Amino acid sequence: MDRKLNVGVIFGSRSVEHDVSIVTASQVMKALNPAKYNVIPIYIARNGLWYTGPNLTQLKNFTIDNIADLAGTKETHLSPNANYPGIITPPTAGLFGKNDFKALDVAFPVIHGTHGEDGTLQGVFEMANLPYVGAGVLASAIANDKAMTKTVLKAHGLPVLDKYIHFTRREWLANRHQILEKVEEIGFPAFVKPLTLGSSIGIARVEDRDKAALHIDIAANLDRQVLVEQAVVGNMVEINCAVLGNEEVRASTLEQPVTYEEYLTFGQKYMGNASAGMKSQERVIPAPIGDELTQKIKEAGVATFKAIRGRGTARIDFLLSKDTQQFWVNEINTLPGSLAFYLWEPEDLSPTAVCDELIQLAMEEHSEKRHTTYDYKSGLIELAATRGAKGLKAKA
Ligand SMILES: Nc1ncnc2c1ncn2[C@@H]1O[C@H](COP(=O)(O)OP(=O)(O)O)[C@@H](O)[C@H]1O
Ligand SMILES: [Mg+2]
Repeated sequence: MDRKLNVGVIFGSRSVEHDVSIVTASQVMKALNPAKYNVIPIYIARNGLWYTGPNLTQLKNFTIDNIADLAGTKETHLSPNANYPGIITPPTAGLFGKNDFKALDVAFPVIHGTHGEDGTLQGVFEMANLPYVGAGVLASAIANDKAMTKTVLKAHGLPVLDKYIHFTRREWLANRHQILEKVEEIGFPAFVKPLTLGSSIGIARVEDRDKAALHIDIAANLDRQVLVEQAVVGNMVEINCAVLGNEEVRASTLEQPVTYEEYLTFGQKYMGNASAGMKSQERVIPAPIGDELTQKIKEAGVATFKAIRGRGTARIDFLLSKDTQQFWVNEINTLPGSLAFYLWEPEDLSPTAVCDELIQLAMEEHSEKRHTTYDYKSGLIELAATRGAKGLKAKA
């Protein structure tokens, strides 16, 4: 057998979804087959410091106040230098200590939202020439921006809600009145959303102008840009579809998560023995929407992933009107919670098999990139050295 691959699982980060990321990462580390991989946990704390150490694989260890106090945990760095694709851990004590360099074969980012799912970390991997799981810089950045997602999908003829506005925090502070006029044109109810966050943080359904202003203020505190869009009214359900692949992409079984209101009602009903019973009621799998709609949504999921040039995996969330059978792409998560493992289980794909496939796809993508030449001898330096840079400028 080939030697084991060093898999750097990177999680946490400076994101409001920091804690969700720790949970997903612990599921991923548990799923990675120990016969094939050495798991190297790399945790980015809320303050942006990077840590590694064997105890970072266990969810229960994250209840500690200061992660640096966890036994065996050391501060580490990932260099963007293409000659050192791995982590560098400086010595913690002693005059003659050396940096410890741990080469990584593949990075497995498991971060939701900013500084991880948005293309920023993916840019570091590109610089470091390190294979990595999941979407690249562009797809990550598009999916992270709810307005850019609409623009790109619309250009590809994919269904999105297109009565919306988005504006910067600065514009809101300067032109509150004009923006509220435009919100009224969209009509109520409307949804106010921070442009780039997830996990429903800062999201509100608003019924009037005053509520809109209040929630835009809140959203503008959480993000630099805010989106306001029409709400789907009437009998609406949400349908989520995960996809897997690079160029050949397939869709998972669909889920129908219960709506927030349904969830609450259910919670009250079963208050006595809450969590155990509620868990299975968080979603219905497969989504009970009939074969024809299921097929259409799966196709739209794959097309959405291709439109943003996705790679590896994503979960695409749809809004479906039960009244008109119309559906719209609501958002794309390039690093979905639990990596949507539960949507692959009905396809006979275990979390371990999903991780194997994601690493395989990361390796394939990286070896494909090797066919690109980055070195180009222009002869420019020699020319500039003899003629002087000034002479060249006029020609360029
Ligand atoms: N336009 C809309 N009409 C109706 N419901 C919506 C609309 N937009 C969002 N929602 C509801 O709000 C939830 C959170 O919005 P979403 O855009 O998915 O934000 P997040 O990125 O935080 O998950 C959705 O799951 C859905 O229930
Ligand atoms: Mg969502």
